[in-house]
Amino acid sequence: MSTPSNAPDSSSSSAGAQSSTPVVPAGKHPAPPCTLVIFGAGGDLTKRLLMPALYNLTVDGLLDPQMKIIGVNHGQVETSAWRDDLYKALQQFAADKASTFHTSKLDDKAWSSLAQRLEYMAGEFESDDTFSALKQKLENTPGGNVVFYLAVSSRFFKPIVEHLGKAGLLKEGDDGKGFRRIVIEKPFGTDLASARDLNEHILSNAKEEQVYRIDHFLGKDTVQSIMAVRFANALFEPIWRREYIDCVQITASETIGVEGRGSFYEQTGAFRDMLPNHLFQLLGMVAMEPPNSFDAEAVRDKKADIFDAIQPVKPDDVVFGQYEKGPAGPGYRQEPDVAPDSQTETYAAARVLVENWRWSGVPFYLRTGKRLAARRTEISVQLKTVPFRLFRDTPVNALTPNVLTLRIDPTHGTSFDFNVKAPGPIMQMGAVQSSFNYGDFFDEQPNVGYETLLYDCMLGDETLFQRADSIETSWAAVDDVLHPKGSPLPVHGYPAGSQGPAEADALLARNGHAWRPLSKDKDADAKK
Ligand code: BG6
Repeated sequence: MSTPSNAPDSSSSSAGAQSSTPVVPAGKHPAPPCTLVIFGAGGDLTKRLLMPALYNLTVDGLLDPQMKIIGVNHGQVETSAWRDDLYKALQQFAADKASTFHTSKLDDKAWSSLAQRLEYMAGEFESDDTFSALKQKLENTPGGNVVFYLAVSSRFFKPIVEHLGKAGLLKEGDDGKGFRRIVIEKPFGTDLASARDLNEHILSNAKEEQVYRIDHFLGKDTVQSIMAVRFANALFEPIWRREYIDCVQITASETIGVEGRGSFYEQTGAFRDMLPNHLFQLLGMVAMEPPNSFDAEAVRDKKADIFDAIQPVKPDDVVFGQYEKGPAGPGYRQEPDVAPDSQTETYAAARVLVENWRWSGVPFYLRTGKRLAARRTEISVQLKTVPFRLFRDTPVNALTPNVLTLRIDPTHGTSFDFNVKAPGPIMQMGAVQSSFNYGDFFDEQPNVGYETLLYDCMLGDETLFQRADSIETSWAAVDDVLHPKGSPLPVHGYPAGSQGPAEADALLARNGHAWRPLSKDKDADAKK
């Protein structure tokens, strides 16, 4: 999350960022020259997210003219064929209205500027030959700088890092020049033990400052804005504490199913896929104390304090579900590559407690799931209700609580639920909502969420990346759920297209709370 203080020139503007001449957004400057090596050049992540993000960075003029991109993959492919394949994919995403890359037209100049940087290199990820060939290619890398991006299946993380280390490719210049950085995707381990082992392995080949562990939720502007909403407004911070807040709900619900990822999902499940990473990151942003600056360590220290204060999540405070045939289609067990008697959860809800001075006693309810009634990634902060006494002799039965909702996806903005007097001669309450949508105030640029992450990595700004300690404390907090002492957690059925299993409602009812309904968001319909 680079701050304008990095910028030598903040006079340019982002207006017309889709025009053919790259215009550097205000407060930003091109990243230092480097070579970006992408392991997994033929994979989905490269096509779907990395190339669209690199294209958007090109349009914004944020890549150095000398920057090069080497794509490594098994399979002999000509560079020209790789480029054509990527271009076709870009065209497809650009035309797809549901894609975050949707744009009226691809800019030919921007594409050819990006295309001429691309070079394909065939190589097995576990073979010494690949790394000696790569070493040769990197001899003249601009500034001696290299970013190694591991866009590969997690089983290749260790061997690739080991080979990079063995080949001397992670050695940085003594004079502080010539950076060597590794970007690692999730899943970063599958539990505490495997995450520790992976950290140990990586850190025996590279220094912590060289390792950029990605959680793509942190690339979303709306997630980065949580700190701005909290710390740039006098309104929220005074009430942002246990004295005023009743509970916090963090939701990442999806309408899609497992989308052909059955074999991955069977091994992973909704809990591992989303809870200790994406949802904990949102929790960290909401719950952290104000840092002293936007310096990476200042921010990450405050988040680390939160992960450290999360109490071990009890299996009793977790509900698992699996979608069955319902209004939205067939059940999970009918998906390709899924066992007909699968016990994998496609829904997970949890009650999480952050035991510190600010949050003690405030439940954080987290839920995520596939094939639910609506797509929503949002955080709702529910305030305690006011004393009812004043209204006791009126027709008002109850007061609804104030709720501030930070909408991350698919609509971007905030909503605030509050009470007013309904028009008329008698005192009746009307629950109303005031909403802010980013699109009403700002030009929303095509953004796939990886632009900031790639740019920050080239700048050496680790604010939005996860540190080894936080990864481990997050896994530690859920270890009792992943390795329960007694029998495995039951998996409750829910109809595809519903609100999730009834047992998840019961989890909140225990404390007199209820989930925010997953109804279709009228803003989502209007803005899509
Ligand atoms: C990924 C998960 O990390 O995040 C997917 O593996 C999930 O299962 C996705 O669909 C959700 O991300 P987003 O940005 O689409 O909300």
